[in-house]
Amino acid sequence: MNTGSTSGRRRLPLSLRRRAVPWERQRPTWREARPAVIAGALKRARARPSGNWYVVGASRDVRGDRPLARTVAGREVVVWRDAGGRAVAGPGICPHLGAPLRDSPVRCGTLVCHWHGLALDGGPFAGWEPFPAHDDGVLVWVRLDAVGGEPPLDAPVVPRRPAEARALSAVYTGVGTCEPEDVVANRLDPWHGAWFHPYAFVDLTVVGAPDGPDEDEDEDEDRFTVDVSFKVAGRLVVPVRAVFTAPGPRTVVMRITEGEGAGSVVETHAVPLGPDDRGRPRTAVVEAVVAASGRPGFAVARGAAPLLRPLVRAAAGRLWRDDLAYAERRWALRATGRFPG
Ligand code: FES
Ligand SMILES: [Fe+2]
Repeated sequence: MNTGSTSGRRRLPLSLRRRAVPWERQRPTWREARPAVIAGALKRARARPSGNWYVVGASRDVRGDRPLARTVAGREVVVWRDAGGRAVAGPGICPHLGAPLRDSPVRCGTLVCHWHGLALDGGPFAGWEPFPAHDDGVLVWVRLDAVGGEPPLDAPVVPRRPAEARALSAVYTGVGTCEPEDVVANRLDPWHGAWFHPYAFVDLTVVGAPDGPDEDEDEDEDRFTVDVSFKVAGRLVVPVRAVFTAPGPRTVVMRITEGEGAGSVVETHAVPLGPDDRGRPRTAVVEAVVAASGRPGFAVARGAAPLLRPLVRAAAGRLWRDDLAYAERRWALRATGRFPG
């Protein structure tokens, strides 16, 4: 094991924290985490085009025997695989008498309504109009032009990812009472990491951030760069450099640029679901972890992907328990005019 931070960062995944700083003695980050900087980054993210594409879920969950169902901005949506294995999508309301197609089976690529047998092969039929669907291999998206109201794009803005052949992917989904912007704002505040998630992150320094509200219109320059160590156990940590960008209005990408797993990405997609029964907005967080490593052992790990995915999802779930509380708090304060600043 290597205890030197610089050489250790290049050669060995694990380091031993030599001078572990207690949580309350770490440097406060609130002066740097300027609300105007976060608000500026959020505003620029929201101005970027999405082409009306919304993430529905994991590609892996779009199966041949039943549809994947989700409500997006109040619209029921179903996605399934047609006879050729292609993802197809459309409204989740049967055009005959309104049966919930989320409960209907798929037979040989055809969605068969379980109320009276109306069969949908993914093409327009009897007043049912499909939505454009896109399967990027990790996530599946639908285009809802009536919801987005932007000029449509032929395909969603999919972040650059490590090559599928050498990557391990897992998708976590959580839901909170907030709007997509509250989820994005949480991800554009990297300063909270070691304070708010001390069980996961230590020794966090934001080494680069946009300067202010109007800085860095160019998306590639509009980034937060963070040196941080992931906690493994006790004083064992994995130090990395991570870069956060927002390629679209509802997406934040964290890319590991140095250290173990360089090239790995964590994509956070915020999907508006629609109001709950009290009229409050609900938002899904769909987070895709696409992990890569050049280490020989990683090929073995990829072989164990079915075992590892639940672990990756559990780790994401632990973080999102707190981050959704952050996003929900932000929304609740905004909704009542009490958000600071
Ligand atoms: S409601 Fe679907 S076939 Fe009648
Ligand atoms: Fe967080």
